[in-house]
Amino acid sequence: MLKIAHRGAKAYEPENTLQAFQKALDLNSDGIELDVHLSADGHVIVIHDETIDKMTNGKGAVNSFNLSALKSFLIEGKHQIPTLREVFDLVDKKCFINIELKSRDTLQYVYELIKEYISQKNWNYEHFIVSSFDWTALQEIHNQNPKILIGVLTETDLHLALAFAETIQAKAIHPYYHLLNPENVQEIQKKGFLVLPWTVNMEEDIQKIKSYKVDGIISDFPDKI
Ligand code: G3P
Ligand code: CA
Repeated sequence: MLKIAHRGAKAYEPENTLQAFQKALDLNSDGIELDVHLSADGHVIVIHDETIDKMTNGKGAVNSFNLSALKSFLIEGKHQIPTLREVFDLVDKKCFINIELKSRDTLQYVYELIKEYISQKNWNYEHFIVSSFDWTALQEIHNQNPKILIGVLTETDLHLALAFAETIQAKAIHPYYHLLNPENVQEIQKKGFLVLPWTVNMEEDIQKIKSYKVDGIISDFPDKI
């Protein structure tokens, strides 16, 4: 059962910060999940929303700022917004990284970064899984390089996700956990895909989803899994 820390260990540290990812490592997570957007000068920025309004003391779209400007805004008065490169360097192969593409313009940059870490820093494909609700983005990244592991995110339609996963030979389906039952978990696994539901936080939900024998759980509380 893979323990995947949602936005880092979001229950314990501000989401998508280096501190949250360090906490996830301290809790022996098998993987971390994070969200990415692009800065105006082409850096992959780890933040959930397309604006910095909710998380920082600034206001505006992530893609309207250069990296240096983004670094001047603070989360809870002390944490900087990290780049994907900074997270890779922090994690340093200690667990896998589930990169959720929140905007299509990150695709090429994320791909280049993965390529760089595999070719120059001894990482391998198993260290990354790229997911998105934007299946066209997943199709594009698969077309670039079929070795990239892909997780097909779905909030509504498991069967459509499964059909799409077959067309791109995805590694996993990442369903909203309410879509699951023991039968459909088995059906997905029989077709060769991992089942990695999100975002399961309540103790009783974790127990229920575990009893379906999923392959892993994405949770704000990786330690509860
Ligand atoms: O990876 C699944 C989950 O993170 C999707 O929802 O809104 O937390 O990015 P959200
Ligand atoms: Ca996410």
